[in-house]
Amino acid sequence: MAHTSDLIASDIDAYLESHEHKSLLRFITCGSVDDGKSTLIGRLLYESHLVFEDHLAALEADSRKVGTQGGDLDFALLVDGLAAEREQGITIDVAYRFFSTERRKFIVADTPGHEQYTRNMVTGASTADLAVILIDARKGVLTQTRRHSFLVSLLGIRKVVLAVNKLDMVDYSQDVHNRIEEDYRTFAAGIGITDIVAIPMSALKGDNITEPSANTPWYHGPTLIGYLETVEIADEVEFGPFRMPVQWVSRPDLDFRGFAGQIVGGSVRPGDQVRVLPSGQISTVSRIVTFDGDLDEAVAGLSVTITLTDEIDVSRGDVLAAAADPPGVADQFEAHVVWMGEHEMLPGRPYLLKLGTRTVGATITQPKYKINVNTLEHTATKTLELNEIGVCNLSLDRAVAFDPYAANRDMGGFVLIDRLTNNTVGAGLIHFALRRADNIHWQSIEVDKAAHATLKGQRPCVVWFTGLSGSGKSTIANLVEKQLHAQGRHTYLLDGDNVRHGLNKDLGFTEADRVENIRRVAEVSRLMVDAGLIVLVSFISPFRAERELARSMVADGEFLEIFVDTPLEVAEQRDPKGLYRKARLGELTNFTGIDSPYEAPERPDLHVDTTALSSEQAAERVIDLLRAHGALGT
Ligand code: ADX
Repeated sequence: MAHTSDLIASDIDAYLESHEHKSLLRFITCGSVDDGKSTLIGRLLYESHLVFEDHLAALEADSRKVGTQGGDLDFALLVDGLAAEREQGITIDVAYRFFSTERRKFIVADTPGHEQYTRNMVTGASTADLAVILIDARKGVLTQTRRHSFLVSLLGIRKVVLAVNKLDMVDYSQDVHNRIEEDYRTFAAGIGITDIVAIPMSALKGDNITEPSANTPWYHGPTLIGYLETVEIADEVEFGPFRMPVQWVSRPDLDFRGFAGQIVGGSVRPGDQVRVLPSGQISTVSRIVTFDGDLDEAVAGLSVTITLTDEIDVSRGDVLAAAADPPGVADQFEAHVVWMGEHEMLPGRPYLLKLGTRTVGATITQPKYKINVNTLEHTATKTLELNEIGVCNLSLDRAVAFDPYAANRDMGGFVLIDRLTNNTVGAGLIHFALRRADNIHWQSIEVDKAAHATLKGQRPCVVWFTGLSGSGKSTIANLVEKQLHAQGRHTYLLDGDNVRHGLNKDLGFTEADRVENIRRVAEVSRLMVDAGLIVLVSFISPFRAERELARSMVADGEFLEIFVDTPLEVAEQRDPKGLYRKARLGELTNFTGIDSPYEAPERPDLHVDTTALSSEQAAERVIDLLRAHGALGT
């Protein structure tokens, strides 16, 4: 390997050239601070000679200062770069490190071992071909070993190196090594991991890292680097059916229209028949264009631009696939969901789901169960908290093309995004489409919304009143309905307190229950709009996301949001039902404005300041709005 560094110095072009043609292995290291993970990664970097001289000088100085290895080089310091981490002795977040040997290039995802960092491990493992699971030979297979292995198997990694580390601390005992290997194999078989290579090693001393160690004459298997350099990674997806999610449509001039993206499954050649999903149209590949000219064949992993022989409709987010073996298309799935948000998952809340290059709206049902990653037990739950994993059903607002995650990670792995913050709050692995989605069709009804509306001589809509408890929503809504009724309009008033006595009497005031409360009311108001009614809705509806959901359920212009704005002090002083007093006394919890949030509308259709207007004046404004909107007909 000295050869590699010489080449960097003498002929950088030759070095880069040789680099380009090496295969790439991506792997993840799993273990905790104490297992010696950072030491191992530091050792790999050191042994592959990608640690440069000045780095080494700094390392020697640091090792003397804070190292835990006496005068020896402390490889962990090479990896635990951040000062804060050094002090705490833990690694936070995923770090990707690159190194290479003469035979192969490597990207290693280094993720923290602590339980609360499941999300980092999931991130690191989702692109890895192989996992190195570290075990401290003195401790054997631990709960965390099981946790890491479960996540590794969940994320589709089939190959595991069991790094039985710190063997120097147990006198290089073959017995200890064999016992650990046996324990591990027994456990791993139960979660579907069978491709295991156990290597006795000491990352600190360098045993069986690059050279077979004289300390383990009883071991005849490969060294760690030897194995990583030669393990087969001929990717299953390369042999699978062709898949390419379209990243963008390239249209530099009128004569060229190509679809650019990365191939995530199989291979493709000019002349191949492809199907465009979800539309299902079929065409034939004309050219495969790249920067370096056209290709006769392109395989998984490559980014290319494909042109077709027909002018068919293809847009960003569509998938080009083998015509004879296309992915499924569905809008409902069962999936594993790994929750990564600080805030718990809220069943029924509209999130964004990104699968491949397509982003759609999605809601998640209450989990069927969650999985204890330490014991693999299933338990009932209403939600998922940060780092929890559960099995849930998802419902999308549009059908998407997919494969089960087990068949293709790119076509079956998705992320969930919070609509307001744009943060990634979850990751998911598709199991299968729900058949009920195929079996429930829309029945066409001839007396439709337009027919109902015409008969009533009005334009149906939802008038949604939101505001704190005691803000005056219901009083104003009631006045509005009275006036509309007097004018011969067909209306219905859905009021929070009343609906909670019937349809929603099973719901309380936790965030999750409020989300479900509003989801149901939004569905009911949609039905009532279909019936041609002017629907007045008076609910606190404290969250923007659910009010937006309600808006999205009806046609453009059919939703009017009225913000009944009363400052908390004023509402509390009015306290018409004595509830604020109870909440202050701690007799009522999760009370909006006291210990549960209210997210005020940012752009309501009407803003009513109840400290400046009487209820009658406010009602008048609402009627004016409806008139201007054309809801009251002519
Ligand atoms: S929402 O937040 O889910 O939209 P909703 O409008 O249905 O609330 O119900 C609010 C009514 O329930 C309030 O007007 C009040 O009378 C009553 N209530 C009882 N407990 C609470 C609570 N913890 N927070 C808010 N309102 C409550």
